[in-house]
Amino acid sequence: MKRIVVLTGAGISAESGLKTFRDSDGLWEGYNIEDVATPQAWARNPAMVQQFYNERRKSVLEAKPNAAHLALAGLEKAYDVTIVTQNIDDLHERAGSTNVLHLHGVITRSQSSLDPTLTYPIDGWEIKMGDKCELGSQLRAHVVWFGEDVPMISKAAQICQKADIFILVGSSLAVYPAAGLVNYVRPEVPKYIVDPVIPDMQGGRHFTKIEERASVGVPKLVRELIENSIKS
Ligand code: APR
Repeated sequence: MKRIVVLTGAGISAESGLKTFRDSDGLWEGYNIEDVATPQAWARNPAMVQQFYNERRKSVLEAKPNAAHLALAGLEKAYDVTIVTQNIDDLHERAGSTNVLHLHGVITRSQSSLDPTLTYPIDGWEIKMGDKCELGSQLRAHVVWFGEDVPMISKAAQICQKADIFILVGSSLAVYPAAGLVNYVRPEVPKYIVDPVIPDMQGGRHFTKIEERASVGVPKLVRELIENSIKS
């Protein structure tokens, strides 16, 4: 079965009502993202950071997967699909995708503030100050903050190197190391981008550009790929 790798960004969840980062002039629920998503912010004011992510988690739990998430889940019928997402929502999983790699963590889980490899499910929408991990340290959102390591990046790069088809959906490619993944895809591999505002990128000329919203462009592309797989 051909391997498809889909790299998704905030744009795929925009039509599910979750704000993107750079479209909403960089403000996240009124906060400057760099002021809340950093270890320094946590050290300075953990309760504020906790509340910020609790609010984000509530909107994620209220959001629904859209036609783009659902179409990508359906692609698994005809291809070996890996979703590499920069998003911290769980909409790909709730749409039915079974192979999702979260580069920046996932907001529906908590993690030990001492050991990021210790993660836990969250009962409900909030992590309270005083909720502790097994090491006795405060629990925080299982999200990679600016300046922290991206532990999944090398696995994601290996996956991109093995792609037979590569699809980029809804990312400005503004943040590394995620943005650098496109360079791991072999030159001969067909590449597609779905975004109403196609971002500048190295090698962009090799991408088939679908200048549409994800909920329109992704289902169309998936239908075409499934037809191709039937014909071949
Ligand atoms: N359908 C498809 N794409 C869309 C839609 C839509 N309905 N609406 C917006 N977009 C596109 C925008 O044109 C843009 O290219 O989604 C992209 C959103 O870019 P960003 O807001 O920069 O989001 P993303 O690329 O995911 O950011 C990467 O930056 O802030 C950090 O860690 C955070 O994971 C995030 C990373």
